Amino acid sequence: MIGVTGATGEVGGRVARRLADAGHQQRLIVRDASRAPALPGAQISQFGGYADMAGMRTAFGGLSTLFLVSARESEDRVEQHKHAIDAAAAAGVERVVYLSFLGAAADATFTFARDHFRTEQHLRASGLDFTFSRQNLYLDLVPLLGGSEGVIRGPAGSGRLAPVLRDDVADALLTMLTEPGHEGAVYELTGPESLSLSELAAEISRYSARPVTFENETLEQAHSARAKYGAPEWEVAGWISTYTAIAAGELDVVTSHVQRLAGHEPIGVREFLGRQPRR
Ligand SMILES: NC(=O)c1ccc[n+]([C@@H]2O[C@H](COP(=O)([O-])OP(=O)(O)OC[C@H]3O[C@@H](n4cnc5c(N)ncnc54)[C@H](OP(=O)(O)O)[C@@H]3O)[C@@H](O)[C@H]2O)c1
Repeated sequence: MIGVTGATGEVGGRVARRLADAGHQQRLIVRDASRAPALPGAQISQFGGYADMAGMRTAFGGLSTLFLVSARESEDRVEQHKHAIDAAAAAGVERVVYLSFLGAAADATFTFARDHFRTEQHLRASGLDFTFSRQNLYLDLVPLLGGSEGVIRGPAGSGRLAPVLRDDVADALLTMLTEPGHEGAVYELTGPESLSLSELAAEISRYSARPVTFENETLEQAHSARAKYGAPEWEVAGWISTYTAIAAGELDVVTSHVQRLAGHEPIGVREFLGRQPRR
């Protein structure tokens, strides 16, 4: 029995659909059962989220493998992840497949990638088997990058990234979750090519009905432009460091891991944008 968290979301929902299509036994572990996808044969277990230890111990009971989708960003996100891992260990789960992020490291430029690293470390120390799926930025989000103004702004300079489609991530995860031999593995899921934000803007422009440009920002400009949202400092640091991580080259990684796990090449930027309706 495979447990799937985040099944009401984009990646977890795609994974759950693939598990159902392939006839695997699964339990969808969700915060609101009424929003769980209706999938043949899937059990549904409602819990209060990754802070709900008692709910998780029940929901995780009898699972061999748990797919742990990282929580929405919050100040106590790592603590929530640690609770989920501890609950999995207490419930007798054998392996946790954790949805991490590319370049997860204690000193990652992207501050949220530090959270993923601390979660990975906790999982390594838990005694559970683990598999880490570290992805680049989602390609699905690329068309939204210019916002309503059609301008991508951030301190990314000429740094590059290799965005990966959620469908390709889910295809790779299906293999990690259902086939043997992925214990202790760390995968880096990326698209097939890496582009700068200027190049991405040019590609978005080419395939959409409106021009999109990239404007580099200094760190000072980045902070003052985002002050109007009134967001807490940890969140603003996360937003801005998405761009500084690109500038530092930390997302300029292209691997063959999607191909190896999913059995097909990952979709690239041009192919993906070419499939979108012109807007
Ligand atoms: N690589 C990237 O570019 C990128 C971009 C954005 C986010 N991410 C990370 O990747 C994860 C999955 O992406 P996605 O596109 O599938 O996100 P998504 O569509 O927002 O789905 C997130 C899922 O996680 C669940 N969830 C969030 N916080 C939780 C918590 N504290 N306890 C229990 N469940 C929780 C949500 O449940 P509800 O439906 O109940 O809210 C939802 O099912 C995100 O959660 C985020 O950590 C990566």
